[in-house]
Amino acid sequence: MKFDTPATTNPIDQMKIVGKPTNRIEGPLKTTGTAHYAYERHDVAANQAYGYVVGSAIAKGRIASMNLDEAKAAPGVIAIVTADNAGKLAKGDFNTAKLLGGPTIEHYHQAVALVVADSFEQARAAASLVRVEYAREKGAYDLAAAIDTAVKPKAVFGTEPDTSVGDFAAAFAAAPVQLDARYTTPDHSHAMMEPHATIAAWEGDKLTVWTSNQMIAWSVGDMAKTLGMPKENIRFDSPYIGGGFGGKLFNRADVLLAALGAKAAKRPVKVALPRPLMINNTTHRPATIQRIRLGATADGKLTAVGHESWSGDLPGGGPETAVAQTRLLYAGENRMTAMRLAVLDLPEGNAMRAPGEAPGLMALEIAVDELAEKLGMDPIALRVLNDTQVDPEKPSRPFSQRQLNKCMQTGAEKFGWAKRNPKPGVTRDGRWLVGMGMAAAFRNNINGPSAARVRLAKSGVVTVETDMTDIGTGSYTIIAQTAAEMMGVPLDKVVVKLGDSAFPVSAGSGGQWGANSSTAGVYAACVKLREAVVAKLGLASDAVFADSKVKAGRRSVALGDAAADGELVAEDNMEYGDLAEKFQQSTFGAHFVEVGVDAMTGEIRVRRMLAVCAAGRILNPKAARSQVIGAMTMGAGAALMEELAVDKRFGFFVNHDLAGYEVPVHADIPHQDVIFLDEADPTTSPMKAKGVGELGICGVAAAVANAVYNATGARVRNYPITLDKFI
Ligand code: MOS
Repeated sequence: MKFDTPATTNPIDQMKIVGKPTNRIEGPLKTTGTAHYAYERHDVAANQAYGYVVGSAIAKGRIASMNLDEAKAAPGVIAIVTADNAGKLAKGDFNTAKLLGGPTIEHYHQAVALVVADSFEQARAAASLVRVEYAREKGAYDLAAAIDTAVKPKAVFGTEPDTSVGDFAAAFAAAPVQLDARYTTPDHSHAMMEPHATIAAWEGDKLTVWTSNQMIAWSVGDMAKTLGMPKENIRFDSPYIGGGFGGKLFNRADVLLAALGAKAAKRPVKVALPRPLMINNTTHRPATIQRIRLGATADGKLTAVGHESWSGDLPGGGPETAVAQTRLLYAGENRMTAMRLAVLDLPEGNAMRAPGEAPGLMALEIAVDELAEKLGMDPIALRVLNDTQVDPEKPSRPFSQRQLNKCMQTGAEKFGWAKRNPKPGVTRDGRWLVGMGMAAAFRNNINGPSAARVRLAKSGVVTVETDMTDIGTGSYTIIAQTAAEMMGVPLDKVVVKLGDSAFPVSAGSGGQWGANSSTAGVYAACVKLREAVVAKLGLASDAVFADSKVKAGRRSVALGDAAADGELVAEDNMEYGDLAEKFQQSTFGAHFVEVGVDAMTGEIRVRRMLAVCAAGRILNPKAARSQVIGAMTMGAGAALMEELAVDKRFGFFVNHDLAGYEVPVHADIPHQDVIFLDEADPTTSPMKAKGVGELGICGVAAAVANAVYNATGARVRNYPITLDKFI
């Protein structure tokens, strides 16, 4: 089915099941331990051996020699895989560095060997006996020191490095009120609960991997390329994923090495990346240095908007697209944005929740707060004044919907913004300095082709099959809601099967495109199944599907009767025309935060948080709220504690575990409120939904930073905001 005209009415608009706050249908499986994650799938293949990854002890250079004798002789060892014996491996399209290094080493903890043994303990013990001599080379590890070497990168997924409208330099120079400030954001780790893990098994030349992966079809294709085999011979199965945040968009060392290990051992092999290896072995959100220049008239109209960002990555990598949202968020006739990329020999930078927007808004939304103060304006009034209903770089292109002002105004009212004293550092609650801050949230909506197959059984049960993944986001549930609404059956008559490359190819989970795209694919398949049911039963095409019956005129037939002589199966792919070219589809929000800062110690406590979001039709308000409060929590972490500490001499992230890489715990997070504005966007798909999972993190850290400023009068522009930076 092709979607190229704004949707009018369709069965989803009944909203009998879609749009209701529904518990996760797979929730009980997860809370009772019966949903098995990749490493726990003991039943999928007999005789599983254990692989343990050896990571490089240098960041850049070569393996001078490798001695496997002691390791091979250790108890239980079955095989050892290295670049020397693994055969020819092509680099995948989605990883910048090789997943199995050697003899060249591209980054610290790049995998250099996999030791396979009968037990995990034997594999780990033998791995410590792999003797590697390295020839270390000098690398670049310090972004600040490398920015003079940064160059204009190529476009990333269609995002150009530079844009320019009008005459920014002249307009900024002439602006009566100017802000010119530099901000930094550190490297971040996804730190998802479930580590990367895979069980791999071969049957002849056919490979099956039970793994934890957000994007099944991309990863099957990349594995086929890496191993030089037809993708038809590779099956990925990833039904449950314990968090991804972008860290599992692509294959990592666990899946390739499990496949190679299983081939070498001639039996199934399971590999997990231990937590201390993950941070330097896999990907991370790259650090940025950002310069923002804003020029405004005395009454607050933006006349010049400039945003530059520098980031680093391994050779062949890409920039953190931290200026992307600045192209669309506020009006202003003269604009420039630019991204520059330096070569750094740190581990691979890549997508992490709201890549680009999250660190970009960490800077931009402090800058807007600073400009408001210079203007003597309320920060919300400044943002409202500079709202735009069209793409400021391409004014002929309207936003399909844009309720940013309403998000801010609704939030201001609910949060009690009127009580905020704009004068910083003067509001006290006993020993606490108290402050309020806010920031706009912005993220684009993306739709991707997505296919599904639906089956109707005689029992009236509808089964949905698609390779869509559920990374803890609620995909199972919104897909069940969609099929139930379309086929007129209750939720408990729908079975959802996900994450298997044997199923039709979906949009997958990434870029907050999963919810709208995957349910639109299920919608398309259900339209076909409805047609098949009506044809089979000989009913008029406008038959109504409700209460597990199909009704037309005076006839009412049980839905399952259509499958009386055998299951009915329908499959379709939702594809997209040029609507997304005609309309800028984006999601908006406003974050409000109150903090207390201990006047004696500088300890920062987040006291209240509120998010107001406008993100199309909310398919399941409970799941969407969970996405947003999780994102708000992650944003609070980015504001106050998250930072991969770079060892600038040896080129690795020092705090490579969850003791040293601090993320918020329950005690750090207060009550969080989330409000969704009523919205349904007919340009996105027949679902009229948009993404929300990445919107939720956008702007949060700046709202915290602005609250800390309001509390203390100390403006911290370098994240995370730790007390040493303002005492
Ligand atoms: Mo997201 S960073 O595309 O999983």
